[in-house]
Amino acid sequence: MDEEVREKLLKAGEILRTAVNEAVEKISPGVKLLEVAEFVENRIEELGGKPAFPCNISINSDAAHFTPKRDDERVFDDGDIVKLDVGAHIDGYIADMAVTVDLGSNNDLVKAAKDALFAAIDVVKAGVSVSEVGKAIEDAIKSYGFKPIVNLTGHGLLPYLTHAPPSIYNYATERGVTLEEGMVIAIEPFATDGVGRVVERGECEIYSILQPRPVRMKLAREIIRDVQEKYKTLPFAKRWLSKAPEIILSKLVREGVLRAYPVLTEVSGGLVSQWEHTLIVEDGGATITTI
Ligand code: CO
Repeated sequence: MDEEVREKLLKAGEILRTAVNEAVEKISPGVKLLEVAEFVENRIEELGGKPAFPCNISINSDAAHFTPKRDDERVFDDGDIVKLDVGAHIDGYIADMAVTVDLGSNNDLVKAAKDALFAAIDVVKAGVSVSEVGKAIEDAIKSYGFKPIVNLTGHGLLPYLTHAPPSIYNYATERGVTLEEGMVIAIEPFATDGVGRVVERGECEIYSILQPRPVRMKLAREIIRDVQEKYKTLPFAKRWLSKAPEIILSKLVREGVLRAYPVLTEVSGGLVSQWEHTLIVEDGGATITTI
């Protein structure tokens, strides 16, 4: 791997873990979700990076893609199991990391996802199939009596792309892509006491450009130009835009210009834990950029 690229990946990782670790300290009952999201996003910038996507704060049965809206008044509650999933980048080189903060008594559920992540990291090296990584995750989570979420996956990271191939499943698949030296991957096990599958619920605050194409409405054109300039192909939050009427965003999604990331929630209402790190795959092992 190019030395300059490696430096940027490592720097993004260092910035991210600093911002996340500080944000974790702020999560307690009564604190606004928006305060934590804005803190972590601003902190990434103060440290010299940029957010790679809006700070995800998914609580209890929500597993992914929740970010507060502008002026959001929601607060953390006693008993919440909180997943903080954050990304930082330098010139498009992304670090992606998630932790679970338990404001209740779900210690085992939290440990299941964390153990699964480190079991997976242990098997990562060039030449290993992602199905082996998935098996390590599945075995660890099941050893606690929980289930992995089967339709959420880890993923590759490419410049300005948060979800590149290969998909890294959270269970043993029949076969899978072979990891190669120099690949950048994010491994993110999700554990649940539910059935192990997520579905979309209505709320959506996160979008990204899917296919820029000419649109007629002036405001829509301005939004697209603005987003392309600032975030390129990275996801952005509705609250990051100065003006973004719901009706225009929905229209751009229908037209295939924008992709929507609706909140994903465990289908049976199970509680969800998550843990994630970003790795550079090497011969004989991996470097964790976010640790
Ligand atoms: Co990720």
